[in-house]
Amino acid sequence: MAFEPKENIISREELPEDQVVDFTLRPQTLDEFVGQEKLKAGLKIFIEAARQRGEALEHVLFQGSHGLGKTTLSHIIAREMGVNLQITSGPALERAGDLAAILTSLPEGGVLFIDELHRLPRNIEEILYPAMEECALDIVVGKGPSAKTLRLDIPHFTLVGATTKPSLISPPLRDRFGMTYRLNFYEIPEIENIIKRSAKILEIELKADTITELAKRSRFTPRIANRLLKRVRDFAQIKKEKIIKTSLLGQLLELLGVDELGLSFVDREIISSLIQKFSGGPVGLKTLAASIGEDVASLEEIYEPYLIRLGFLNRTSRGRVATSLAYQHLENNKKDLNEK
Ligand SMILES: Nc1ncnc2c1ncn2[C@@H]1O[C@H](COP(=O)(O)OP(=O)(O)OP(=O)(O)O)[C@@H](O)[C@H]1O
Ligand SMILES: [Mg+2]
Repeated sequence: MAFEPKENIISREELPEDQVVDFTLRPQTLDEFVGQEKLKAGLKIFIEAARQRGEALEHVLFQGSHGLGKTTLSHIIAREMGVNLQITSGPALERAGDLAAILTSLPEGGVLFIDELHRLPRNIEEILYPAMEECALDIVVGKGPSAKTLRLDIPHFTLVGATTKPSLISPPLRDRFGMTYRLNFYEIPEIENIIKRSAKILEIELKADTITELAKRSRFTPRIANRLLKRVRDFAQIKKEKIIKTSLLGQLLELLGVDELGLSFVDREIISSLIQKFSGGPVGLKTLAASIGEDVASLEEIYEPYLIRLGFLNRTSRGRVATSLAYQHLENNKKDLNEK
């Protein structure tokens, strides 16, 4: 059996060091934020206009896969608007009172970030509607027939929502956002720029071709690029190498089980299961997830988007299907293993 590393560099869970590294590497301004040019150009204009008028920015919704910069952009918006960012998330808002307390304590023009907006409970969502539209909070006082609704005014504020699953956001909520931006996977030169920027901050020296090789394995995702970079730094330190060369990177990636396309052992299991156990599909998501012992959400949110982007997998109405590129990759991998 092939060696399977314990660590999964692709995981969605924040790794302990992510928080520290994210904090130091997170771009602080739109100008420092690499890529997503159209999104940045739009946001820049709207932020500037709102600032000139002295008004709150319109509500913004960010959609996109994990690690592409949604949280980073929310921080940037608050910073560029010159206010603090109040942070919460869909699943954290369980009771109406939780949201009411946050909304009433916002300053005029404040920015509220709700992460994982698709997991916001329905009853909380309904409180948001008048808050977003009319800066009003409807509070029910009392119970039964004598219950009354009191309307409270709240400050003008900007709601920034982030979601990895836009299809789960109800249309009435979606319609209340003035701006909706989709974050796309990054291009390789953009990931290279992110790596260069991070390497400078972390004082890591890399050869130019090593940066390219690292970028190619970063799944077009800044968070993965930064994670790999940090692993490379640790590895170089142990190996006592000052400047990181591609050969050193190769050894590390082998250890991490990341291949030349940035595929982890889980991705490879998905492909080989799909092809070998289900004759290439179509197979339902649940069945596929069960066949490799992964949960459905990870498969759908972490692994699949990249496999689709690579053109290895298609989502059809009847289930997941492997493409000829996936077959080719599996064949090449087998050959590589045999040659080793
Ligand atoms: N455009 C960018 N330029 C430079 N660095 C970036 C960019 N986008 C993201 N990053 C880096 O990647 C890290 C992860 O980004 P972020 O936390 O904003 O992702 P996210 O979309 O909120 O992910 P999740 O859905 O998992 O919450 C950031 O800490 C930052 O260092
Ligand atoms: Mg986030």
